[in-house]
Amino acid sequence: MTVDLILGTNNVGGHGKIKTVEAMAEILELYHSHGNKYLDCAYIYPAGFPGEAESFLGELNVTDNGKFVVDTKLDSFRDGAHTEQSIYNSIKVQLERLKVDKVRTLYLHAPDRTVSFEESHRAMNELYKQGKFERFGLSNYNVKEIEEFAERARKNGWVAPSSYEGLYNIVSRRPETDLLPVLRKYNISFYAYSPLASGFFSNIKRGQAPAPGSQFDPATFNGTFNQDWFFKDDLFTAVEKLTEVGEKHGISNNEIALRWLRNHSQLGKGDAILVGYSKIDQLKQNLEYLEGGPLPEEIVQAIDSIWETIKDSAPESVM
Ligand SMILES: NC(=O)c1ccc[n+]([C@@H]2O[C@H](COP(=O)([O-])OP(=O)(O)OC[C@H]3O[C@@H](n4cnc5c(N)ncnc54)[C@H](OP(=O)(O)O)[C@@H]3O)[C@@H](O)[C@H]2O)c1
Repeated sequence: MTVDLILGTNNVGGHGKIKTVEAMAEILELYHSHGNKYLDCAYIYPAGFPGEAESFLGELNVTDNGKFVVDTKLDSFRDGAHTEQSIYNSIKVQLERLKVDKVRTLYLHAPDRTVSFEESHRAMNELYKQGKFERFGLSNYNVKEIEEFAERARKNGWVAPSSYEGLYNIVSRRPETDLLPVLRKYNISFYAYSPLASGFFSNIKRGQAPAPGSQFDPATFNGTFNQDWFFKDDLFTAVEKLTEVGEKHGISNNEIALRWLRNHSQLGKGDAILVGYSKIDQLKQNLEYLEGGPLPEEIVQAIDSIWETIKDSAPESVM
């Protein structure tokens, strides 16, 4: 298939939902048995307990014999995270945790607008020259900021961004009109996160409080973002309409969402879907859905007409 898969790890670690190295080893075996090898990690995973996910991957020596390939994201989400020194400190501990000399992609996870982007870019260029990563990634930056990095790279001969992680799913399609034209212009791959809107299509009902510990629990870091993005009347209505059309074909919302992203969305060759899960059974189901091929035409058309009704209240593409 043209659109790659990359295994997410934001639920991984002793304080996450995949709590043991042994449980993670099973997840990785399942993922590998479906012919996949790319992993996505971050300094911050799991939220609130930075480093636990990277340490699990390190303990499992995942890159041995080229079995898996790791992308990771630098310490971000705080003022001063992207000074030259903070970036060097972050990568040093991350490579130690992962027990590797370099990663495939190294991301600035979210803009640190308190530091000049030129300073952050210079540090990334230095690390690139030292061979600490192969691809420079940006995540959650806006279009103007992406262009700024790409143009500076051209002008200074510095490493250019070549991957971008952003929110993209059947109810969050703004990237089609704002981000993607710019990413295509600068040859930057698009990796779509939250393909299931963090569980919004299956785990949440209008008017019901989110389960404690779920991705929508407002007591968690992810819960506040997710509620802000998805808890809107129009979006609840969209999911109800989708459920109706899916039931006619015996296809669940989650299956619709994943098959649409892989077969009908604007993702193409070189792009990827970041696969989420909080238990192995979810991952098994999601991998099967992702391999399910194109959807019936009636469902694809329903997704497009539902989008027309929610595009003004859909989440923004960027932070
Ligand atoms: N760059 C960034 O800023 C950024 C942001 C977000 C994510 N990411 C990356 O993208 C990856 C995927 O994003 P995501 O975790 O938000 O993906 P997602 O698939 O939209 O959401 C995952 C959540 O959906 C629920 N879920 C998944 N499969 C399910 C199934 N078959 N049945 C029922 N519920 C299911 C689970 O919720 P419960 O936990 O409630 O069970 C799970 O934790 C992350 O792991 C991370 O690596 C990056």
